[in-house]
Amino acid sequence: MTEQRQLQCTAVLPPGLEEAGAAELRELGASAVKPLRRAVAFRTDLAGFYRLQLQARLPFRLLRQLAAFPCRSREELYAGVQRATDWEQWLPPELSFRVDASGSLPGLNHSHYSALQVKNALVDWQRQHFGQRSSVDLDDPDLHLHVHLGGGQAQLSVDGSGESLHRRGYRPRMGLAPLKENLAAGLIRLTGWDGHVPLADPLCGSGTLLIEAACMALGRAAGLEHRFALERWPDFNGPLWNQALEQAASGERTVLSDGTPLAPVLGLEHDAGVADQARSNAEAAGVGGAVTIRCADFRSFEPPPGPGVLVCNPPYGERIGEADELEQLYADLGRMVKERCSGWDFWLLSGNPELTGALRMKASRRIPVSNGGIDCRWLHYSIR
Ligand SMILES: C[S@@+](CC[C@H](N)C(=O)[O-])C[C@H]1O[C@@H](n2cnc3c(N)ncnc32)[C@H](O)[C@@H]1O
Repeated sequence: MTEQRQLQCTAVLPPGLEEAGAAELRELGASAVKPLRRAVAFRTDLAGFYRLQLQARLPFRLLRQLAAFPCRSREELYAGVQRATDWEQWLPPELSFRVDASGSLPGLNHSHYSALQVKNALVDWQRQHFGQRSSVDLDDPDLHLHVHLGGGQAQLSVDGSGESLHRRGYRPRMGLAPLKENLAAGLIRLTGWDGHVPLADPLCGSGTLLIEAACMALGRAAGLEHRFALERWPDFNGPLWNQALEQAASGERTVLSDGTPLAPVLGLEHDAGVADQARSNAEAAGVGGAVTIRCADFRSFEPPPGPGVLVCNPPYGERIGEADELEQLYADLGRMVKERCSGWDFWLLSGNPELTGALRMKASRRIPVSNGGIDCRWLHYSIR
């Protein structure tokens, strides 16, 4: 019975992907889905929560609310946390924990301080009840708590993901300014590409956009390689979790959901080492056979018969290369696309409007997104 109880949950999303993230959660069966700032609130039962952890591609984290209570001061936060749930079950002293905080309330403006207040409330409660306290573990805690303050309320949640969900496990933690996997998945979702027409990234780097796209089109669940913190929760339901795992794994196909073959998915990268990395990432993600990476300059790109979708995340000077050296690259990219990609949709992640001007093209859509804290636009051009 308890498994069907509705849980109030929050998905933490990259800024700009709230609506796309909400749509994905709805598709995966969440209800009462409400986009917020950098987050989406939703409801689901435990089976749904497990399914979303394994299959949602856009969130960084999925949090499950333990309690929400009125909170207007430090004292109310302290007392509210101690009363919030059955801590004997959730946090016996042999388990480690960490607390993160977001939002603010009058007198609680610093998230570090708010997190400390929650931690103190918990270890004081433990000392009173058990005569001993848990240790804090920032790297691999048994229980990862989040407190969100705002609107005269505190929401206390547990993070089921453990490590951030964007770490799919197919990519080593290195490379030249790679996109986070969940941002790449969100960008692809915004293009509306569904696998029926070719997809190409002429400056593909480690291949993240293409790999996420191929995984989405072929139903490869995002979280199958992930280690989840929720397995250490007191109400962890092993059989239900195994069912969710089986269901997630069974979604994988070699063709599209309507039985038609996946259209070509193609990347160009001029750095041979990075191109190799992209190939091994695609292999590790299980889509090595679906994604072709060529070591070549984008200027030599010959699109497969279209129409199709062209995506790219060219360097924009914030991290690699300097802006003035890149102007020529953007001018050449604009020329190549206009000359050879007629009938295609072109999407470019821009972190530098001056460079984008060198394309000499007019965007029909400009979607604000944040890439690792850099304010960017996901620009759409229809090439006619
Ligand atoms: C910002 S990175 C792309 C990162 C990629 N989206 C990822 O997630 O890994 C830009 C890539 O463009 C490549 N590049 C730069 N100039 C190029 C050119 N002329 N032809 C092909 N690739 C190029 C760089 O080597 C770099 O890997």
